[in-house]
Amino acid sequence: MEQIPLKGKKILLGITGSIAAYKAAFLTRLFIKAGADVKIVMSQSAKDFISPLTLSTLSKNPVLSDVSSEEGWNNHVEMGLWADALVIAPATANTMAKLANGLCDNMVGATYLSARCPVFLAPAMDVDMWHHPSTQSNIKKLEMYGNSIIPVGVGELASGLEGEGRMAEPEDIIEYLSDFFISKQDFQGKEVVVTAGPTYEALDPVRFIGNHSSGKMGMSIAEELAQRGAKVHLVLGPSKLSPKHPNIELTRVMSAEEMFQAATKFFPRCHAAVMAAAVADYRPATFSDTKIKKKEGDMHIELERTKDIAAHLGQIKKDGQILVGFALETNREMENAQRKLKKKNFDFIVLNSLKDKGAGFKHDTNKITIVRKDNIIRKFELKSKKDVATDIVNELLEIQN
Ligand code: CTP
Repeated sequence: MEQIPLKGKKILLGITGSIAAYKAAFLTRLFIKAGADVKIVMSQSAKDFISPLTLSTLSKNPVLSDVSSEEGWNNHVEMGLWADALVIAPATANTMAKLANGLCDNMVGATYLSARCPVFLAPAMDVDMWHHPSTQSNIKKLEMYGNSIIPVGVGELASGLEGEGRMAEPEDIIEYLSDFFISKQDFQGKEVVVTAGPTYEALDPVRFIGNHSSGKMGMSIAEELAQRGAKVHLVLGPSKLSPKHPNIELTRVMSAEEMFQAATKFFPRCHAAVMAAAVADYRPATFSDTKIKKKEGDMHIELERTKDIAAHLGQIKKDGQILVGFALETNREMENAQRKLKKKNFDFIVLNSLKDKGAGFKHDTNKITIVRKDNIIRKFELKSKKDVATDIVNELLEIQN
C-alpha cells in the first residue's frame, strides 16, 4: 500500500494509558515508513504500557510526558502549532472525558488544547465503557468541536469480552489519515462561499424565531471543498458544529441580516457560492430591548420579510461565477425546485424532499436530486451527507469546466 499522502506531513502522536498503547509502536513505525515526521507526547499512565525509549527510538525524536517539566512546559504550545495533524491513539474513555471538557492535567490534554491542526482520536476501551451514555456523549461533544473519531473495531477485547471498543489497527489509522490528506486538489486556487445552518431572528433578548437546521449538509460541503483545495468562507448560522479543515475560514452569524452581510462581502471574490443555509424568510418587525412580559389574552407578532441572500447573489452574479441553491420541499417538489432555480438565477439546485426517509434536517444522511439550469436532472440514492457533499462538489466542478 503506497502512502504518498503522508510524505513530509508533521504528525503529533498522543498516547494515553490503555493496553492498546503497545500498538503505538507499530503506528509510529508506519508513519515513519510513510515519510511522515513524528513527534510524540504521552500521558504518565501510558508509560505503564509502553516505554518512552521505544517510542523515541522509533520516532527519532524525544518523547514528552511531563507537562510541568521544563521541556514539557515550553513545548506543548510549540508542538500544537507544529503539527499538521494530532492523532491521539489510543484515546481512553478517561482522556476523551477530559478533552471533551477542556481539562489539561497532562501533556496530551495540554497539547490538544494548543493544537490548531485537525485532531483524530482512536478510542480504545472495553465494550461497556464504549456504550456508556457518558462516553457516547463525550464523543459527540468532541465531534462537535471538529475532531474526527476513527471508528473502533469489533472483536475480542483485553478483558475477554467481545464487542465494540478495540482501537483501530495501526494500518487502518494510517489509511484514515492518508484519506484525509489525499485530495484531488481540483479546487486549488478557487474561493467559495458556503452558507449553512439556521438563522435566529430575535424577538427580545431571550426569544427568537428559528428552525431545526443542524448545519450538517453545509458543513460537509465546506469540508469537501476545503479538502479539494478550495479556500472556503463558511458563513454559519447558530449551529453546534465547527469546521476542522484549515482551508475553512469561519464566520459565525445569528440572523438572516448578518448572514446576508457576510455572504455579500465574500461573494465578489469567489468562484462559486453554495447556499445551504435554512434562512428565515420573516423576522419580527420590532425588537424589544427588554424581555416581553405576558399580558392577558393572545399576542400577535408582526413579521417582516428578511432579505433573500440567494436571490441577491443571483442578481449580482458575474459571468463565470456559479450559484448553487437548495430546496427542501414537502410537496410538488420538482415544480417548486424549478421555480426557485429560475427565480434566484441558480446554476443548479439541490432538491431534497422531506417525504424521503432519511433526508432533510436532522439526519446524517440525505437523498438529493440535482436540477440544472440546462434542464439536466440527476437523481441520487440515499447516502451519508459526506458522500452527498462529494456529489454536489463534483457537479460544481463539471459546470465550471
Ligand atoms: N435562501 C436565502 N435567503 C433567504 C431564503 C432562502 O439565501 N432569505 C436560499 C436557501 O439557502 C436555499 C434557497 O434560497 O438555497 C431556497 O430556500 P427556500 O427556503 O427553500 O426558498 P424560499 O425562497 O424561502 O421559498 P419558499 O418559502 O417558497 O419555500
